[in-house]
Amino acid sequence: MRVIFNGKAKQMRALWMEGKTLVMIDQLALPGSLKLVKCKTLESVAAAIEDMTVRGAPAIGAAAAYGMAIGWKDGKDKAAARLRKTRPTARDLFRAIEYMLASKGDPFASAERYATDVADACKRIGEFGLPLIPKKARILTHCNAGALATVDYGTALAPIRAAHAAKRGIFVFADETRPRLQGMALTSWELLNEGIPHAIIADNAAGHFMRRGEIDLVITGADRITLNGDAANKIGTYEKAVVAKENGIPFYVAAPLTTFDFSLKTGNEIPIEERPESEVLELGGIRVAPKGARARNPAFDVTPAKYITAFITENGVVRPRDVKKLAGRAQR
Ligand code: MRU
Repeated sequence: MRVIFNGKAKQMRALWMEGKTLVMIDQLALPGSLKLVKCKTLESVAAAIEDMTVRGAPAIGAAAAYGMAIGWKDGKDKAAARLRKTRPTARDLFRAIEYMLASKGDPFASAERYATDVADACKRIGEFGLPLIPKKARILTHCNAGALATVDYGTALAPIRAAHAAKRGIFVFADETRPRLQGMALTSWELLNEGIPHAIIADNAAGHFMRRGEIDLVITGADRITLNGDAANKIGTYEKAVVAKENGIPFYVAAPLTTFDFSLKTGNEIPIEERPESEVLELGGIRVAPKGARARNPAFDVTPAKYITAFITENGVVRPRDVKKLAGRAQR
């Protein structure tokens, strides 16, 4: 992705290795400043996944792969057990750990291969998604499914990047994405860096724009997709999909095969992470809810297959009813 770092434009991945150290963009410091965080131990990688210094399903997977390589010498099973406890919903995390456990040879080389495969898959998602985007399309996206969330290119943002590069004259609506504001802080930052025209909208505003005919299609990412074509993604995705269907607007979910979980039949089986109440009760670390008020804070919801027009994968565009046909191809 294109970023401005130390005053200069450069291409940067969301995370990469320098020798035996994992370097990642500090997603907690964005959009205020572009800072890098260095992780030299398994524990520091696990903590970075937990506190969301690195986030987004494919990027969590790549961080876990690198974390496995760093923790390998002290016992790969111990490393796997620690990383499995970090975040429960993203399938990519578990897929990356399985990939590393099954790998032979230098674990750092395996982790690098895993991360590069993810970036390549996202590039192909952009290519397969491009024909779905008409000229002058106005596209809604939710949360951040960009390069930050995926090593590079993004999932939902990959076809958007490709459409912008192809001069389709697109416009993006970025849901702010309460409570952690990934849409406002991260998606908008990525779109600004690429010069892609967009507006941040309050989460509650998407239905208004859809009903008025101001949104032509929706593209989101996913954290886990089950055999029947249900998809878990950032909280709030489900209601966007329902309103899209009500208004006859196509709803696409862009995801690499590492996000598909063919061991689960339906989305009801997906573990949904519950995060701290403080994320809802506070804004920027300042409590805005009345003293004594409690909150619930599920980080993800499940969109049933019937609301999803198609999945955009590195193997092509797939209808929800055809997800099961991908099963044999997912174990790379
Ligand atoms: O809690 P987060 O920020 O890790 O959630 C991220 C999302 O929900 C993304 O949409 C999803 O991981 C797909 S990222 C390409």
